[in-house]
Amino acid sequence: MKKAINVTMPSSAEGMSRVDGRLKVTGAAKYSAEYTMPGLTYGVLVGSTITKGHILTIDTKAAGRAPGVLAVVTHLNSPKVPGDQPEKGKPVPDKGALKVFYDNKIYYNGQPIAVVVADTFERALYAASLVKAQYKAEKHITNLPDNRDKGFAPRGEGVYKRGAADAWQSAPFKVEQEYIVPTVTHNPMELHAIIARWDADDKLTVWDKTQGVNDTRDDLARLFKIPAANVLVHSQFVGGAFGSALRTWPHEVAAVLAAKVVSKPVKVVLSRADMFTSVGYRPFTWQKIGIGATADGKLTGITHEAAGQTSSYENFTEGPVGVSQNMYACPNVNTKYNLVSLDIATPTWMRGPGEATGAFALESALDELSYAVNIDPLELRIKNYAEVEPSSGKPFSTKFLKEAYQLGADHIGWGDRKQVPRSVKQDGWYVGYGMGSGMFGAYRSGATVRAKMMADGTLILQTAVSDIGPGTGTAMTIIAAEQMNIPADKIRFELGDSSLPPAPTQGGSATVASVGPAVVKACTDLKEKFQKLIGNGGEDHPDYAKVLKEHNLPSLEVTSSSDGGNGMEKYAMNSWSVHFVKVLVNAATGVVKIDKVACVSDCGKVISPKTARSQVIGGAIGGIGMALMEESIIDHRYGRYINNNFADYHVPVNADIPQIDALFINKPDPIINVMGAKGMAEIALIGMAAAVANAVYNACGKRVRDLPITPDKVMG
Ligand code: MOS
Repeated sequence: MKKAINVTMPSSAEGMSRVDGRLKVTGAAKYSAEYTMPGLTYGVLVGSTITKGHILTIDTKAAGRAPGVLAVVTHLNSPKVPGDQPEKGKPVPDKGALKVFYDNKIYYNGQPIAVVVADTFERALYAASLVKAQYKAEKHITNLPDNRDKGFAPRGEGVYKRGAADAWQSAPFKVEQEYIVPTVTHNPMELHAIIARWDADDKLTVWDKTQGVNDTRDDLARLFKIPAANVLVHSQFVGGAFGSALRTWPHEVAAVLAAKVVSKPVKVVLSRADMFTSVGYRPFTWQKIGIGATADGKLTGITHEAAGQTSSYENFTEGPVGVSQNMYACPNVNTKYNLVSLDIATPTWMRGPGEATGAFALESALDELSYAVNIDPLELRIKNYAEVEPSSGKPFSTKFLKEAYQLGADHIGWGDRKQVPRSVKQDGWYVGYGMGSGMFGAYRSGATVRAKMMADGTLILQTAVSDIGPGTGTAMTIIAAEQMNIPADKIRFELGDSSLPPAPTQGGSATVASVGPAVVKACTDLKEKFQKLIGNGGEDHPDYAKVLKEHNLPSLEVTSSSDGGNGMEKYAMNSWSVHFVKVLVNAATGVVKIDKVACVSDCGKVISPKTARSQVIGGAIGGIGMALMEESIIDHRYGRYINNNFADYHVPVNADIPQIDALFINKPDPIINVMGAKGMAEIALIGMAAAVANAVYNACGKRVRDLPITPDKVMG
């Protein structure tokens, strides 16, 4: 089944390209929607056209009679999802994931009310247009700023305090401002897609876009009450996700239900419009920061409040205020985090979840404070550098952020920056510089890897991890090549299949830190097995193929695990970043052009330099999109997204992006794992939007606190 990956690359890791790059650029890589199989049918979802209320009647007759239609599944005729049914003697939880086709209730506009299955996609799409529902609509709310008074603390009191509360108010220099991060939708190039096939009443196979094949397997097993061992999840290639594929969504359950009804495999591919309502988004978040400092720039207090939106049926939480607790040494900090339930679908994690939102506010506020105190914003940060974790007093495993500041400042030419806005104008464009910093927990969890040396000297590594694009296979190949002392093109890394040894979901910037140690362990164990075969005194790196031949063995394999480590017991562990941006702001039109970007990451040892640079550039571009373009807009009268397509929802394109220089401190963190490697995915984006906003202010004197920074907000 699995194609051998053809690797062509220089032998040095410095220049090593993606092991799956050729498959991707030639179209040979197969994504979930691209599989085909005998009897395959096509499901198209029908979405609710009201935002809140319930279905009175649903007319599926015309759809059912349309050519090629096999079934129209609604809440009236759907098989029950066993895991959604109330359990005897157990209280029914009042909140949770949306139950698909469960009853007639409508919680958000676009909620699936039916899936139409036909023998071709086109016929299913046409028939879906014939499904007509009558609703009883209720008054909905989809607007966070107007409903902030309905906020509630999602966990405990939702508050944090060290020192005195609101101490910033008595500071000689202070700033208090509100910041808005709008709803932002992940919008990876690849649409979410699933093919579901029942192989027996209790055996299910899916080809699914997911960041975690094991999580998807466990969710489907729980929902359909079948053994996890009977669920097979394939997700060999994922065309971007940014967090949208971290959990199991309604369209996946709908496909599995439909496959049950028609007793054939069913493929469901979301439309681009569906992507806005069906697979989460970064939640609209209102924030207020009060921050104060002494005349020499020492922080005396930070107060950070945030209110993020969630759905009415489920509480999604993240940590936007966490950055204010731990980014800077400050004696008095209090934070408060609230949720506001709206009649919209549940949000989810999106690159730098929480921190990206919080860092926009905090790093903007720091910049505003630097003007109030009249101190260079970089100097202000250095003055308040946290040498230990402020909230716990724990030492950091490693933190080289000061070096990162220096490296980035030198690289962008920070010395050319003028503190007074509108100081520099060239050919009708104001020139400005800005910076923003980021932090994110350096997480690690357990993983298991099978390493198998084949008779021809090929090493096969297998683990169930997904790869959403950062280059997992490349980094693991580099690690194994070094451990085994064999060329990288002799290594095949197989992933994205729930039948392989267990690995964590790809998320939280933790894959290399988690799976890497398991690769090291598997290689170590395999070498030991070879040593035993050879007897004492063998070379550390024998000719593996020769040894196998001498012993008449077709292969030799081990399966080895590593755990999550215990570094966090004694240490505060984070990756750190700083982004420096030079912008040009058109004095007449308010258009912002990004002129130059330097991103410096302190993420421990860099395993795969080329894919690491690519990862950081991607994150920086995501941050530029967040700063200048991205916003999912709801018409609140109807509760419906109005820019749910790539014509109206803007993401940066080549013309928007200059050269982005990704620089690395590249000093190993000895606590995190044996390689010293920490995550870099989230920190690549966290702090970037503020860097742009701060540069825009420095250029033209316009402070934009509600993203995105569109020309209308900058003009005049
Ligand atoms: Mo990321 S938000 O952990 O996919």
